[in-house]
Amino acid sequence: MPTSLDRRLLDQLAEQEQLGLARTPPIISQRRGVRYCLGDHQVVGFCSNDYLGLANHSLLSKPLMAPSGATASRLVCGDLPEHRSIELRLASLAGAEDAVLFPSGFQLNVSVLAALIQPPDLVHSDALNHASLIDGLRLSRANVQILPHGQAPQPKSMAWWITEALFSMDGDYADPAALRAHIAADGCLYLDEAHSFGLFTNDGHATGLAGAHGIKPTALIATLGKSFGCAGAFVAASTTVCKWIRATARSFVFSTGTSPLLAAQLHQAISLVESPEGQLQRERLWANVEQFAAQLGVPNPHSPIFRLLLPSNDAAIDLSARLLHRGWHVQAIRPPTVPHGTSRLRITITAAHEPNQIEAFATDLRTLL
Ligand SMILES: Cc1ncc(COP(=O)(O)O)c(C=O)c1O
Repeated sequence: MPTSLDRRLLDQLAEQEQLGLARTPPIISQRRGVRYCLGDHQVVGFCSNDYLGLANHSLLSKPLMAPSGATASRLVCGDLPEHRSIELRLASLAGAEDAVLFPSGFQLNVSVLAALIQPPDLVHSDALNHASLIDGLRLSRANVQILPHGQAPQPKSMAWWITEALFSMDGDYADPAALRAHIAADGCLYLDEAHSFGLFTNDGHATGLAGAHGIKPTALIATLGKSFGCAGAFVAASTTVCKWIRATARSFVFSTGTSPLLAAQLHQAISLVESPEGQLQRERLWANVEQFAAQLGVPNPHSPIFRLLLPSNDAAIDLSARLLHRGWHVQAIRPPTVPHGTSRLRITITAAHEPNQIEAFATDLRTLL
């Protein structure tokens, strides 16, 4: 017997369905790299964020000797050697004084923004920033000025600029020259490198957009569930900023510490991303990106994320379904993940794709379009 709440939610779910906005997680099984089963279909996926193709790597699935649970907030009795050693390593990778580990990028952004930004601060946020950045800014209660996508704010001392480095749904980058100018003017730069950290190198070390351009953000955010094939996220910043985050960021203070097992696994992931094999994966990724772009006639591709805008929610669902029948999985992306009127297929290329898969996928995509 449905309750009043059930009835209200059922009405709203029916409304979402009618608008082409229904969402349920697709059931994936038997995943081996980019190949998996989706319901009855055997598919090759083109929508993961596993850019370096490491999520199924045998090294990352190896049993590890570490406690499974932190047992409490790190501020109570959950701060273990695994946390401290991985944070030092992440800081060094990001070229920062210190780093703080979180269980996910979403948890990080919602609390770190609210911890660092205080209501009188002047805050500029890109119009296409990720939901976690938007929610973190809401929690900060600051008066936020939304910048048209891709526009830089006037560089000014203590003014915040909150931006993704590589925009997750559009595949374009923040302008490195503008990021540098903001820092040079003593502005505060909160740079979310969720999708770009690990894709580039500087002096032989894996890095993101900032590292590749010698930019030192006030707070550099990177996630570890994308190019690093694991889970979690970190903020890299000065000793003082990290000390403040550990003392005040609510999802750090009021949550059980990240599993030490994850911290131990992240050591393996960093070693892998930094190894000659990791470098080879980066080279494969960029070669695959070039190949796919050439087959679609896209000039100068700069990122593994390709955006294919479609005229409606239903058109995005329809193209996704037709690709699925040919053995390709590309999930339709609709509001509220992207602004109304910009539903799309977000196609991602990874190092794990084979050139023949990319060629066959591009051919089918061109045919269907
Ligand atoms: C720009 C950006 N920031 C943060 C996140 C959240 O990261 P996580 O998946 O680790 O929660 C995402 C997720 O895709 C993202 O795209």
